[in-house]
Amino acid sequence: MNEENFRLSEKLVSASYVRQGVQARRGHEQLIRTLLEQGKCPEEGWSESTIELFLNELAVMDSNNFLGNCGVGEREGRVASDLVARRHYRLIHGIGRSGDIAAVQPKAAGSSLLNKITNSVVLDVLRFSGVRSVSSCFVVPMATGMSLTLCFLTLRHRRPLARYILWPRIDQKSCFKSMITAGFEPVVIENVLEGDELRTDLEAVEKKIEELGAENILCVHSTTSCFAPRVPDRLEELSVMCAKYNIPHIVNNAYGVQSSKCMHLIQQGARVGRIDAFIQSLDKNFMVPVGGAIIAGFDEDFIQEISKMYPGRASASPSLDVLITLLSLGASGYKKLLSERKELYTHLVQELKILADSHGERLLHTPHNPISLAMSLDALQANCDKAITQLGSMLFTRQVSGARVVPLGTEQTVSGHTFRGFMSHSDAYPYPYLNAASAIGITRKDVELSIKRLDKCLKALKKDTKGEKCESESSPSGPDDQTVP
Ligand SMILES: Cc1ncc(COP(=O)(O)O)c(C=O)c1O
Repeated sequence: MNEENFRLSEKLVSASYVRQGVQARRGHEQLIRTLLEQGKCPEEGWSESTIELFLNELAVMDSNNFLGNCGVGEREGRVASDLVARRHYRLIHGIGRSGDIAAVQPKAAGSSLLNKITNSVVLDVLRFSGVRSVSSCFVVPMATGMSLTLCFLTLRHRRPLARYILWPRIDQKSCFKSMITAGFEPVVIENVLEGDELRTDLEAVEKKIEELGAENILCVHSTTSCFAPRVPDRLEELSVMCAKYNIPHIVNNAYGVQSSKCMHLIQQGARVGRIDAFIQSLDKNFMVPVGGAIIAGFDEDFIQEISKMYPGRASASPSLDVLITLLSLGASGYKKLLSERKELYTHLVQELKILADSHGERLLHTPHNPISLAMSLDALQANCDKAITQLGSMLFTRQVSGARVVPLGTEQTVSGHTFRGFMSHSDAYPYPYLNAASAIGITRKDVELSIKRLDKCLKALKKDTKGEKCESESSPSGPDDQTVP
């Protein structure tokens, strides 16, 4: 209500009570004012009522909510279901205009403001999470793979002759397909084994650049967050190499915002060399539904070029979800989640180590991977070949999600390219293993229950294989993130 309406209210309710109400409302408004002034994630999380007040204020600025509006256009923000309208806080127009996802829409000042504020808050979060010098970013309503594709397509205009993308191998289909979908030829650079870790083969990257010619290479496509025993790429060295040969560098930072180590790698890479853009998933880093990513970089012009590459308007849902989430958590709530994740990583290391030792296995030594861990399944495989895939099924049946069982020697063809040892990021990794990760939002209970169930599965398999049955139970196969293939 505005001042005039408050004055009118005093005719109905005692003036002192109304004044108190005005004061209370000012509290909410002050928070909104600070957000608009600074464009930063508030330090303390907002209450739901402040967030709803803010979103309602935005929604009434959009033409679909104008009281006197009559529309004769082909897109008037009409929504048949009230449930759907409420699900979107009546912000129906989406974001962007045809030709630029960051552009302001004349019909929808509220949605446009939502878009700008979200991008600004998210930029602040990327900065305080470790990439201090990031200069520009935007939320795009596509997950990581498609967002990478958009970056590659944008680079095509800058390097029309280039056909190849140099890609230190990571066994994740979306990463590979992001390059194929954009029409490029991925050049797979095998990782090198250092101890238990799989690391970037810098020599092989440089050799390829010289062999193919820098002008024929669209970019180097590197990765931070990944499943152990692969570890984040040697970003500093790759960035220096990209600067030396004048080749663009796109970094897949899929779930790296939650790790200060991954963010530090990006900051350092950009400081000493060249990083053109880095891409992160919204759901994996901010605990929102799947559907969005952040494309960020150090050169505003290039990031703007990518946003202009997006054809047409886009859904505002991912932006709305991440804005609501960050306003409710506040910077302090998000940082708390980050530090809890880190603590539980250490706890998971300890628990997995105890479990591995007790089953004659080994927690693989992968200190450069700050999120994912791997435990060997050598002893299990020595007992019985099938036990490895059975373990995957058993974990699935016992509702342990996300634990990936990776046997040796799986071959998989993705978009015409055959990967040996698929899922292990290597042609010939020496051990079968099981992955577990400490990702944002994980709880102590998740760690303890999954270790307990894993222990039970391993014991059951050992018992069965001793009796040479080698077939513990008939259970459906797990989903493909659990047992390979
Ligand atoms: C390292 C990495 N990159 C990319 C992706 C694909 O992400 P999205 O499903 O968001 O496209 C994943 C998904 O698991 C991933 O782990």
